[in-house]
Amino acid sequence: MMQSVVLARRPVGNPVETDFALLDAPLPVVGEGGFLTRNDFISLDAGFRNWMNEDSGDDVLAAMALNEPVMGLVLAEVIDSKHPDYAVGDKLMARFAWQTHSLSDGSDFIARLPYELEFNPSAYMGVLGDTGMSAYFGITDIAKPTADDCVLISGAGGAVGTIAGQIAKLLGARVVGIVGSQKKADWICQTLGYDAAVLRSGETPLAEAIQAVCPDGVDVFFDNVGGQTLEAAITNMNHRGRLVLCGAISGYGVTPYGPSNLFELITKELSVEGFMTHFRHDRYDEARAQLSAWLREGVIQSPEHRLVGIENVGKAFADLFAGENFGKTIVEL
Ligand SMILES: NC(=O)c1ccc[n+]([C@@H]2O[C@H](COP(=O)([O-])OP(=O)(O)OC[C@H]3O[C@@H](n4cnc5c(N)ncnc54)[C@H](OP(=O)(O)O)[C@@H]3O)[C@@H](O)[C@H]2O)c1
Repeated sequence: MMQSVVLARRPVGNPVETDFALLDAPLPVVGEGGFLTRNDFISLDAGFRNWMNEDSGDDVLAAMALNEPVMGLVLAEVIDSKHPDYAVGDKLMARFAWQTHSLSDGSDFIARLPYELEFNPSAYMGVLGDTGMSAYFGITDIAKPTADDCVLISGAGGAVGTIAGQIAKLLGARVVGIVGSQKKADWICQTLGYDAAVLRSGETPLAEAIQAVCPDGVDVFFDNVGGQTLEAAITNMNHRGRLVLCGAISGYGVTPYGPSNLFELITKELSVEGFMTHFRHDRYDEARAQLSAWLREGVIQSPEHRLVGIENVGKAFADLFAGENFGKTIVEL
């Protein structure tokens, strides 16, 4: 039996659990050139919200169809194969659907994992997966912080933010995170080593709240949120600061807010660089090797918001937008 989570209706604004439904079907038969996986973990990634809107398809992914399985990242193991490049037992991180099993012809986005996994398998969806690598590429390739820098990170307690903050700290910077609750603020400082936190939902306007915590200004802003958060960060940037644009969750599924202070990019000579991790697919082994070394040394942690059972995948996805997650959101199947 194969179970799939389908898009029951298109979310309006933030997704809710009832936007998704569970569907049972017989296990598919593997044809010539195909292979079947058992999916052990589903990674919940906020960016996939974008392709739930009608007419939202682009070069990365087609718009998701109603009553069809929802696309996402999974940790999979090949259990049957008639494909020359995939053998039973191969472990993969792949862009398949939210399903207990996936049938593929190999044309999906697939990153191979080591045959023997050194760490807890779920780590390959988090710190060693797409989100950990987003943090790694964004911080080490683009932000390149030094000990003189103040690095500000939005979505600091989420999957990307928890890893980005720890890497920036390892590189010697002062690291400040923007989060949605006092509980998360305390957690990122006490558990992950952030130097300070800013509440995005506090009574003080965000730009002022950032200034209070970063009185000497911000040299690097690693942004997962966009919109008004990006605007508030720009106000606090130092001359020749770097804006690293990883995500814009505040604008997913709603009309995005555009910062009104882009002229400051000119007057402060700021650099702005966005990135998509999957375009660095050829460097996944390098990123995983470095992140694994840090995990082995015990200098970074891989916090998880873990739910169990495919029936909880919709709830787990909604949790991301409600800020319920501390760290990487995954569902164990
Ligand atoms: N460029 C890439 O290749 C790439 C790859 C992976 C992910 N990303 C991006 O990275 C970002 C983080 O993704 P994720 O999947 O790891 O999620 P996440 O950070 O684990 O969870 C999202 C967090 O964002 C905050 N948030 C939610 N709605 C918000 C809103 N309207 N305004 C401000 N903050 C809000 C919440 O934290 P608080 O309540 O604590 O603020 C929530 O916990 C997303 O923008 C995603 O698209 C980019």
